[in-house]
This record gives sequence, C-alpha cells and structure tokens, in this order.
Amino acid sequence: MGGEEWTWDGLPSTDPEGGFWAPRALSVAEIQEIIQDWAKAAERAVRAGVDTIEIHAAHGYLIGEFLSPVTNRRTDQYGGSFENRIRILLEIITAVRKVIPETMPLFVRLSATEWLENTEVGKRYGCWDVESSIRLAKLLPPLGVDLLDVSSGGNHPDQIINPFGAGDYQTRIAAQIRSELQAEGLYMFIGAVGLITEAEQARDILEAGAATSLSKAIEDVDADIEKEAEAILNMTEKRNGNDPQADVVFVARQFMREPEWVLKVAWKLGIDVAWPVQSLKVRFRDA
Ligand SMILES: Cc1cc2nc3c(=O)[nH]c(=O)nc-3n(C[C@H](O)[C@H](O)[C@H](O)COP(=O)(O)O)c2cc1C
Repeated sequence: MGGEEWTWDGLPSTDPEGGFWAPRALSVAEIQEIIQDWAKAAERAVRAGVDTIEIHAAHGYLIGEFLSPVTNRRTDQYGGSFENRIRILLEIITAVRKVIPETMPLFVRLSATEWLENTEVGKRYGCWDVESSIRLAKLLPPLGVDLLDVSSGGNHPDQIINPFGAGDYQTRIAAQIRSELQAEGLYMFIGAVGLITEAEQARDILEAGAATSLSKAIEDVDADIEKEAEAILNMTEKRNGNDPQADVVFVARQFMREPEWVLKVAWKLGIDVAWPVQSLKVRFRDA
C-alpha cells in the first residue's frame, strides 16, 4: 500500500506543499520484517567498521511512535498496554544484540518525555513521560543495552516544551533515571544531551557534587516556558544533589560553532590531550 492515491491531502507526492503519504498501521508480519531489517542494518554497520550502535527510539521516529499512547492506537500485541507499546523496541534490541559482537557497546536513544503531560491530547490518550522511561530503563540492562541516551520530545506538534530551548531539563531527567536505576542495583551508563556548551558545565554533569543550580536553569529559558520549567524541576527535584547527573555527555550544536571544542575543553580543565600535528602551533595556552 502507499503511492499517489494514499497522499492524505490529495496533492501528488511531487508537490512541494504537501503530498505526504497517509500513515497506516503495519501488519504484524511487517513489524517482524522491520525488526529483522534492524538486525541486518546492524550487521552491515559492523561490517563497515563502526564501533558502537545506537538504536534510535526518540524524536517521533518509528520506535518512538510505538512507545507513545498518543501515536500508537493499535489493539494487538504491539499497542495498548505499556508492555505492548515497548514490545517492538525490546524485540529490536534483542535482534540487534544477537548479531553484533558481544563487546560492542549498544546504545538506545530515548525521548524521556514527549512533553504532552499538560496538553489536551496527552490527557485524552495518556502520554510517554519520565515515569514510563524509568520503567523502560529498568528493563534494558538485562537485554545488553550499555547506555541510555536521554533526549526528549519530537513526537507531537502539541508538545509544550521545545527540546532545544529547555535549559538543563534533559540532563535533570537523565539524572533522575540514573538514580532510580542505581536505587534498584541496576547499572547502565546514562548519557545527557542538550545545550551542553561549556567545559565546566560538562565536567559538573559528570562529577559528583557539582549540580547545575535550579535558578540558573530557570533564568536560561524563555519566560513563556517558566511554568513548565518549574514543573519539571519539581518532578526531578528528589534526586540526591551530590550524585553525578550522567556518565557521558553528548554534544551536537557546539561542535558546529566550535569544531575544536574538545581541545578547548581539555585545555580549560587542564587535561593533556593529543593535538593534531598540523594544529600544534595554535595550541591553546594560558596567557
Ligand atoms: C543539524 C542537526 C541535526 C540533528 N540531527 C539529529 C538526528 O538525526 N538524530 C537525532 O537523534 N538528533 C539529531 N539532532 C539533535 C542532536 O543530536 C541533539 O540531541 C540536540 O541538538 C541537542 O543537543 P545540543 O544542544 O548539544 O545541540 C540534530 C541536531 C542538529 C543541530
């Protein structure tokens, strides 16, 4: 199925203004095929020489759509209950883990909340929230997941917080998931991502006793979302302020602004790293 007759606005798929194919539910056989496709893609990646595989279950892509009760309206074993909505992800993880080397790190990227808690659609259908992520996270270490990459949002246009304008909330959620896992004696690396731009900030996330202050987080965000900011802060407040917030930080846009970011961070934090030979003459130095 699919093709021109399936566009949801009647425009041809070549029309720059529209022409998207109408979504339809996958059959169970197609889901099984997709799970195997994930495993085949992982095998190809291993053959191509990658060091790490990350399964993308965030940002409204297919797996994320299955996780959320807002976008998953299935009535079979892949929809409805929490256990059914996470089934495809667990099956993909299992299929991928089986075909990659035992020593290869396996990451999962998750939208830890889809930010629909305070929306009409979220109230009507329920939504994927931090509590769901904690519940899911506890199931991942036994399946061989080594790291949970904690992002957020991107599944629905009604989401209230823009993930790219959300201060350090994603890091705070990462910290909450990390402490909940540790409280149950489970261990999996937790990655923090989003608006990490400074050396000291990256260090503070990873080191004990150096949590970013609450008021700074609120100051940094748009006034419009201050209320939501407070709600999230309350939601994440119970963690122990002396714990590291994450085991790993991921940085995206800062590398677009400053491709030499790693070298600058190392210099600022007094860490000796190897510089590319061609850059030795421009090494950062204390004045
Ligand atoms: C140009 C650009 C492309 C991105 N593409 C992806 C993507 O394909 N998959 C993904 O999970 N995140 C993607 N992201 C999001 C980043 O991985 C990251 O989560 C986000 O930018 C927040 O981190 P930052 O504040 O360090 O940029 C993209 C971000 C940018 C700026």
